[in-house]
Amino acid sequence: MIKPDGVKRGLVGDIVGRLERKGFTIVAMKHMTIDRDLAERHYGEHKGRAFFDGLVGFITSGPVVAMVVEGEGVIAAWRTMMGATNPAEADPGTIRGDLATTIDENVVHGSDAPDTATREIGLFFPEL
Ligand code: RTP
Ligand code: MG
Repeated sequence: MIKPDGVKRGLVGDIVGRLERKGFTIVAMKHMTIDRDLAERHYGEHKGRAFFDGLVGFITSGPVVAMVVEGEGVIAAWRTMMGATNPAEADPGTIRGDLATTIDENVVHGSDAPDTATREIGLFFPEL
């Protein structure tokens, strides 16, 4: 997912381009605004954490671009391409390393395991 800061800053093309140049296949793509209910379900694992309300506020603050991406090892590879959660610790060459400065607005999201991907695809693309 390209988060609201990435969409607002006009980074959709850069990020989609990285996926395409890497050789992955975008099989579904949606420009949408996440409502509070979907945000709380998507980030349910973080409920109760100090940053939860801010995280839900941020992810609902403007449109995102949600995608389903296929390819060999795509989940782990996309996590590598995103870089560390905190952009201050993200390597140059990664999306967060190149394009972000703060942990609260770190441009992209990626599912962290196959079961998470299945769950998140169900939340964002119930029609699939
Ligand atoms: P995401 O879920 O957004 O792809 O990011 P992630 O897997 O790299 O990080 P995760 O641990 O799942 O955290 C989700 C988002 O919550 C914010 N966060 N803030 N202040 C903090 O300590 C803190 N920890 C996490 C980040 O915006 C992170 O992307
Ligand atoms: Mg996460």
